[in-house]
Amino acid sequence: MIDGKKILFSGMQATGNLTLGNYLGALKNWLTLSDEYECFYSVVDMHSITIRQDPAELRKRARNLLTLYIAAGLDPKKNCIYYQSHVSGHAELAWILNCFTYMGELNRMTQFKDKAAKHADNINAGLFTYPVLMAADILLYQADVVPVGVDQMQHLELTRNIAERFNNIYGEVFTVPEAYIGKVGAKIMSLQDPTKKMSKSDENPNGSIYLMDDPDTIMRKCKRAVTDSEGCIRYSEKQPGIKNLIDIYSACTGKTPDETVREFDGKGYGELKPAVGEAVISLLKPLQEEYARLSKDKAFIDSVIKENAEKANYYAMKTLRKVQRKVGFPDRIRS
Ligand code: TYM
Repeated sequence: MIDGKKILFSGMQATGNLTLGNYLGALKNWLTLSDEYECFYSVVDMHSITIRQDPAELRKRARNLLTLYIAAGLDPKKNCIYYQSHVSGHAELAWILNCFTYMGELNRMTQFKDKAAKHADNINAGLFTYPVLMAADILLYQADVVPVGVDQMQHLELTRNIAERFNNIYGEVFTVPEAYIGKVGAKIMSLQDPTKKMSKSDENPNGSIYLMDDPDTIMRKCKRAVTDSEGCIRYSEKQPGIKNLIDIYSACTGKTPDETVREFDGKGYGELKPAVGEAVISLLKPLQEEYARLSKDKAFIDSVIKENAEKANYYAMKTLRKVQRKVGFPDRIRS
């Protein structure tokens, strides 16, 4: 608890261009939860280097992502928006938690298997222990809740296991966090292959809608979305392309999938697809405008970076010092 409020932690990687999946699966829920919780939203640049990055490009993307959090509507006075690499406690706690995580557990992580297959020439130890750094992110702030998309659930379960294991040995040190998964939009699929999740790293740019795509591009991608030959609009696993379009439309308009299905009752794909395009365009327009405005305000963004890193450090250190004492590191001598 901070000032009587429960704590929320979440983060995104500054790798690739953010997609509509990132927005609907995570960022949208961050906005609705931000009043209720004391929130920490990190740009997880340390996770990004598990895959080789161009330094100048990573720096630029990290700043763009931080700006985007604010442009989406997160007030940096109320929400702690900061770079993971500016708070050394993440790396320090990750080291300790590495010693409480089993190789067998990490071997089971499906995201590791996927990424190792994709980057076979660079299967580094950081990629393997990636979920431990993620556990450190969350546990460092004693988070109660972690809003994420479905693809992060396995990492969240591991985080809970590590926290419980540590608490069983040393007493109630960590809050055991709960995942928060939104009702719609928790798993947005590729527009070109609706059996695969929409991803920043997809080689086919038509599969993903990027948050900075212009209206024409968004409409074109929606119109070209892969569907099926059934010809009717049902919310069914048997029609993954249509189901995905219903999910996108519902998440963008705040309707339930049932309401969307009723709205398009008796209509064809030729009506659904442009309606999805319009819904996405109107959702992203204010975000894109605010992003363009904020990007020019260097002094403001710099002040957010500085102030929030200090705030994050303060809370991170509180947990870290406690953990260091528990595991038996010697006390610091104060003069
Ligand atoms: P990342 O950067 O891959 O994705 C950021 C968030 O977007 C969600 N997401 C999706 N949701 C719905 N449909 C999709 N197609 C889709 N694609 C991505 C993700 O679930 C995530 O919530 N390891 C994390 C970042 C991280 C983190 C953390 C998250 C590091 N430390 C601590 C929460 C708490 C990641 O790579 O997310």
